[in-house]
Amino acid sequence: MNFDEIIDRTGTHSSKWDMMEPLYGVGPKDGLAMWVADMDFRPPQSVQRALEAMTAHGIYGYFGDDRAYLEAICWWMRERHGWQVDPKWIFTVHGLVNGTGLCVEAFTAPGDGVVLMTPVYHAFARVIKAAGRRVVECPLANEDGRYGLDIAAWDAMMTGSERMLILCSPHNPGGRVWTAGELRAIADFAKRHDLVLVSDEIHHDLVLPGARHRVMATAAPDIADRLVTMTASTKTFNIAGAHIGNVIIADETLRARFAAKVNALGISPNSFGMHMATAAYSPEGAAWVDALVAYLDGNRQVFDAGVAAVPGLASMALEATYLAWVDFAGTGMAPAEFIARVEKDAGIAANHGATFGKGGESFLRFNLATPRARVAEAVERLQSAFADLQ
Ligand SMILES: Cc1ncc(COP(=O)(O)O)c(C=O)c1O
Repeated sequence: MNFDEIIDRTGTHSSKWDMMEPLYGVGPKDGLAMWVADMDFRPPQSVQRALEAMTAHGIYGYFGDDRAYLEAICWWMRERHGWQVDPKWIFTVHGLVNGTGLCVEAFTAPGDGVVLMTPVYHAFARVIKAAGRRVVECPLANEDGRYGLDIAAWDAMMTGSERMLILCSPHNPGGRVWTAGELRAIADFAKRHDLVLVSDEIHHDLVLPGARHRVMATAAPDIADRLVTMTASTKTFNIAGAHIGNVIIADETLRARFAAKVNALGISPNSFGMHMATAAYSPEGAAWVDALVAYLDGNRQVFDAGVAAVPGLASMALEATYLAWVDFAGTGMAPAEFIARVEKDAGIAANHGATFGKGGESFLRFNLATPRARVAEAVERLQSAFADLQ
């Protein structure tokens, strides 16, 4: 668990490091990859051992007998999130973007509206549009640099043709951990407008000190008949390449609709992902996550202190996730100008805020899940790229 170790990921088909030059024009040799949400850390040893056992055996046939895998997921949800999950509620999908696509197919029809609270994780809109559904953007309220709900405004926007709401909880970007009251209000909104509520809780283990995540299923048990929860080991344990995720559905009718799509598309699990997830959802994995979160908290403090010293830049206070959401509006610069300074002058590849939907235009998202020395380096580079504002 040495999160300070600098591990060279270039030339390994790493999306984050090997695609930064084609996408952002920032070369990996001197540049800092702070965009796509994976971490520059090795996963827990339990995951590594599971893979080594597979390669030592050397036969890679079809996976069977998922009892230990399902029990590991149930154990994790019970121990870490106080949520009792029945193994029969769990579907294994090829990641939560895949899970989102399956929900869109299972619970909506072409032309239907799917509600997003924007700015939000960009792949939601991409999947909804690709499936021929409509994205209905309900803007989050930016209340002095902290996102809040604007339910009255959202109520007024609903037309009756919306079928689904995808909630990001904790929220990416912006790092909000929704309170019990906010989750209740979102659940009531879904009820009022007869929406299936898909709660993407992929960041639920990455909650920083001071905040407490509540699973929607326990915050609003009365909406079980319209609730789909998505969670994953991949974000928590840095195994996104395994492309595996959990879609958890307690309601029998929703489950049958989802199962029909899974079966129609011939989806079945990848054995590497199954072994890795089982090994991750373990006491050893839990100890690793605790150490990780403490480390990420340190990175957040270094980043926030450094960014706060640059006039015109404001980083939202992260309650969860390692994805700092920095507002450049105070610089008075157009996006093209502050983006050029970050990419060309500072040599940092960070996600462009506009891709997250309305309200994101003046922001960049920086991935802080990297050794602290790199976070400190990023801060210095930002300070010097915007030195004229001092
Ligand atoms: C909210 C959210 N959902 C889903 C994903 C991606 O999930 P997967 O890699 O399992 O497809 C991300 C990745 O950053 C995310 O932030």
